Amino acid sequence: MTTTITITGAGGQIGYALLFRIAAGDLLGPDERVRLKLLEIPQGLRGAEGAALELQDGAFGLLESVDVTDDAGVAFDGTNIAFLVGSRPRTAGMERGDLLAANGGIFGPQGQALNAGAADDVRIVVVGNPANTNALIAAAHAPDIPSERFTALTRLDHNRAVGQLSTLLGVPASEVRDVTIWGNHSATQFPDVAHATVGGRGVPELLAERFGGEVAARAWLADEFIPRVAKRGAEIIEVRGSSSVASAANAAIDHVRDWVHGTQNGWTSVALPSDGSYDVPAGLVSSFPARSVDGAWQIVRDLDLDDFAAPRIAASVAELVEEREAVRTLGLL
Ligand code: NAD
Ligand code: LMR
Repeated sequence: MTTTITITGAGGQIGYALLFRIAAGDLLGPDERVRLKLLEIPQGLRGAEGAALELQDGAFGLLESVDVTDDAGVAFDGTNIAFLVGSRPRTAGMERGDLLAANGGIFGPQGQALNAGAADDVRIVVVGNPANTNALIAAAHAPDIPSERFTALTRLDHNRAVGQLSTLLGVPASEVRDVTIWGNHSATQFPDVAHATVGGRGVPELLAERFGGEVAARAWLADEFIPRVAKRGAEIIEVRGSSSVASAANAAIDHVRDWVHGTQNGWTSVALPSDGSYDVPAGLVSSFPARSVDGAWQIVRDLDLDDFAAPRIAASVAELVEEREAVRTLGLL
C-alpha cells in the first residue's frame, strides 16, 4: 500500500527537514511506500522544486512520487496525512499571538481544500503558528472531516520537557515517561511532571531528592523548568537566529508516527479538539496527555490536578479562548 502525504510550506526550513526523513521511512516504517505532495505559494515553489530534485537524487526505495504545486486542491486530493507547516515563523521579539492575523488566513482555505479532497482516513497535524488556533480554523472549515482528525503540534514542547528532565536526572530520554504539556503551544503552556516517572519512580520524588525537599523542587519547577520549556522557542530563535527546524520536524514525525502506529512509552502530548475533559471548553484545540489506540488519539482521563497545576492549565486555556475570540473578530472562524 502507498500513503499519500501532503506537506505545506514544503519549500521552507521545516519542510526541508521533514521530507528526507519521511522518504527514508522514519514516519511510517521500512515497508510503507509514500507519495509526497508539496504545497507552496508561488514565491516558495522554487524551493520546493529544488527539494524535489534532491529527493530524486536520494534514490529512496520507498518514495513512489513527488508532486510540487501551488494549488491546494491538487495538494490535498486523496491525502492520508497532511502536515500543515506553511506559514510565517516569528522572529526575535514577536510573541506567537502576533502571528494570528498573519497566518490565520491560510488555514480556512486549506481546511476547505482538505474537506473537498482528502481521503476518508485523513490525519492532519498543524505545525504553523499559532498552531492550536490555526487547527481550530482549519477544522471549522472542514465540516465533513471528524474534528478529532485535526491536531496541532505540542510534541516539540513535550520532547523539550523530556530532554530537560533527562539531562537533569542523568537518564536516557527513553526512560522518562508520562510528562504532559497542557494548553497552548505558547509561553503560557504548562509542562507538567506530576505524573511523570523515571525507571518506575515518580519524578516529583526524584526532584525532591535532587533539590533537598519538596518546596525546593517546586521552586525549581516554577522558576526554572516551566519557563525554560515554555520559552524554548524564543531561546532557539535568539541563539540560532531563526526558529527551531530539525527538532520541530522530528517532533512532527514523532506525533504522526505515534498516531498511526500507537504510543509506546507511556503517554504523549497532543493538541486536539477538547471533548470537555479537564474543564477545557469543548472544541478548543488544547494540548492534553494522550495515547494513540487503534489509530486514534484518546485523552488520558482522571488525572488529579493539584493547586499547582489547575490554575496554570486554566491560564493557558484562557489564552486559547482569547485567540478564538480574536480570530472570530478577524472573520477567520
Ligand atoms: P519558513 O519560512 O522556512 O517556511 C515556511 C514556508 O511556508 C515558506 O516556504 C512559505 O513560502 C510557505 N508558505 C507560506 N504560506 C503558505 C501557504 N498559504 N501555503 C503553502 N505554503 C505557504 O518557516 P519554517 O521555519 O519552516 O516554519 C514554519 C512554521 O512552523 C512557522 O509558523 C513556525 O512558527 C512554525 N513552527 C511551529 C513549531 C511547533 O512546535 N508547532 C515549531 C517550529 C516552528
Ligand atoms: C518553537 O516552539 O520553536 C516554534 O513554535 C517557533 C516559535 O516561534 O517559538
